[in-house]
This record gives sequence, C-alpha cells and structure tokens, in this order.
Amino acid sequence: MEKQEVLEQLKREKDAVILAHYYVEPEVQAVADYIGDSFYLSRKATELPNRTLVFCGVSFMGESAKLLNPEKTVLLPDAAADCPMAHMVSKSVVDAARRQYDDLAVVCYINSTEEIKSWSDVCVTSANAVSIVKNLPNRHILFIPDKNLAHYVAEQVPEKEFIFNEGYCPVHEHMAAEEILLLKREHPKAEVLAHPECCGGVLQLADYIGSTSGIISYAGKSPKKEFIIATECGVAYALGKERPDAAFYFPKTSPVCGDMKKITLENIIQVLKTGENEVLVNEKTAAAAGSTLTRMLTLAGQAETGAV
Ligand code: 13P
Ligand code: SF4
Repeated sequence: MEKQEVLEQLKREKDAVILAHYYVEPEVQAVADYIGDSFYLSRKATELPNRTLVFCGVSFMGESAKLLNPEKTVLLPDAAADCPMAHMVSKSVVDAARRQYDDLAVVCYINSTEEIKSWSDVCVTSANAVSIVKNLPNRHILFIPDKNLAHYVAEQVPEKEFIFNEGYCPVHEHMAAEEILLLKREHPKAEVLAHPECCGGVLQLADYIGSTSGIISYAGKSPKKEFIIATECGVAYALGKERPDAAFYFPKTSPVCGDMKKITLENIIQVLKTGENEVLVNEKTAAAAGSTLTRMLTLAGQAETGAV
C-alpha cells in the first residue's frame, strides 16, 4: 500500500485529522487536511470534531492545540521538533516588569512554551499581534519572547510603551538586509514580502509585512509577477499553488527551519499507529497558559467582527 493510503486508513481508524504549518515539507503539506499559519491552526484546532489531532509543526503548536482542547488526543510526529525562540525569555524579565509597571500587559507570542504562556496575560500570533495590542487597555506592554515582532508591533502601535526582550527566531534573524538588497537589484520589478520575525533592516525594505498566510494571500492578489520572500522556504509550496504564473526569490542563505523539516510521512504514520508522542500538558500551568490562548481567540474574533 502507498504511504498516502496507509495514512488515510489510519486517519479513519483513529478518527484523526492532520494539521500542518506552511514550513513543513511539501509532501507533508500535500497530505494535510488543514494547512495554515499559527493563528489559523490554533483556531481550527478548536473547531474540529475529530478525537485525534496530528500536529505537523513544532512543539509549541501541538501544545497550544492541547491547551485549547484538553479532551482531545494531540500527537506530534516528532517530539524533538521544537522552536528555539519558544524558550528565549526568563521569568525574571516578566517579574521585573510587573514590579515596575502597575498597568503592564504581558503579551506573549504563540511561539512560546506552556510555562511562558502561563506567566502572560494574552497570547498573539503574527497575524493578530497589532490589532490585539492596539485594543488592550494597558499602556505598558512587555512583549515576549520575540524582539523583532515586538519592535514591528511597537512601530504600528506608537501610543503604547513597550518593554522588549532579547528573543529571536534564528532562521529569520539570519536573513540580512544586504541579501534582500542584492535580490532587489537582480529583480527590480519584484515586491518584497516579509515576515515580522525578520530584523528591522529587512522589514524596512518590505512592500508587505505579515504572517505566512498573509504573505501567501498578498501574493495571490498582487498584480506583480515576481516576489522576494523573506521568510522560511516552506511557503514556496503554497505560493507556487497560489500563483503558478509568478516567480519567487528567497535569500541565497536559504532560510530553512530544521525543526519544521523533522516532520515526515513516516513519522506521521508511526505516531498514528502507536499513539507515541502524545502531547501532555503540565497541570500546574495548563489553566493559566490556556486562558492566554483563549483570550487571544476572543480578542481576535472581536477585532474581526468590529466589536472593539
Ligand atoms: P506564522 O504564524 O506566520 O505562520 O509564523 C509561525 C512561525 O513560526 C514563523 O517563524
Ligand atoms: Fe521557530 Fe523560527 Fe522555526 Fe518559526 S521558523 S518555528 S520561529 S525557529
């Protein structure tokens, strides 16, 4: 039997559904039931009737799905697929800011561990960070762990005072403005589409800044035929499907997230067969961490419907 057929049979037997991030390998995206950015996937995980969710992405994604759906079985195809940025803040940073500012909101990027979420007031993703922060009643914002997304949001919401942390995504941080400038010289008609995890120098050169879904949907609607893409190479698969007529150029140093690439058809089949790598949350922090995610879903929903 082909791997795809084995997978379909196991999905039926286990009442399972496959969710995948745009950065996983194309062959994994091809078998996924739902593909999206972190926000889409976290919301989708709360809407599905299936008993088992196989989360093709890094561990904070599976953990978020479990925190939002404690009654479901969430499986990670590779338990070692982890986002380094998700650990890049210490409790002392949060405690110091809480001591200093009475009106502080601790805003935590979804790329963070359950424990870090439990110290925070609200979670955000790159798709909703600006609108959620804008609508918070608090004036002081400690944004953790990502410094680049934090600086981008701070620029969009100048009425708030930000406290920054030193975390970063190694894949996006590695992209240099010089590489984008070089690509712009080579392809002067191309639009630059960048993820806000990139450094300020790259973002200054961008025509559009947004989440992975935002980048894909922007390219889908743009009249241009050439795009310079400042995010992880995995988006090339969805971009190619969205705009088969267009050319996409990535920095020469090839932004690849090794952790996302750990997900394979073989390890998806393995966890479905055996139930290995089930995501278990820490009962001490699950309630607080889950409520930061629920608050994100509520505030993002209100912003979408114009209720705030
Ligand atoms: P998105 O939410 O834009 O998909 O980003 C996830 C991520 O890990 C970016 O590095
Ligand atoms: Fe984490 Fe960066 Fe990989 Fe996204 S691309 S999962 S932020 S290491």
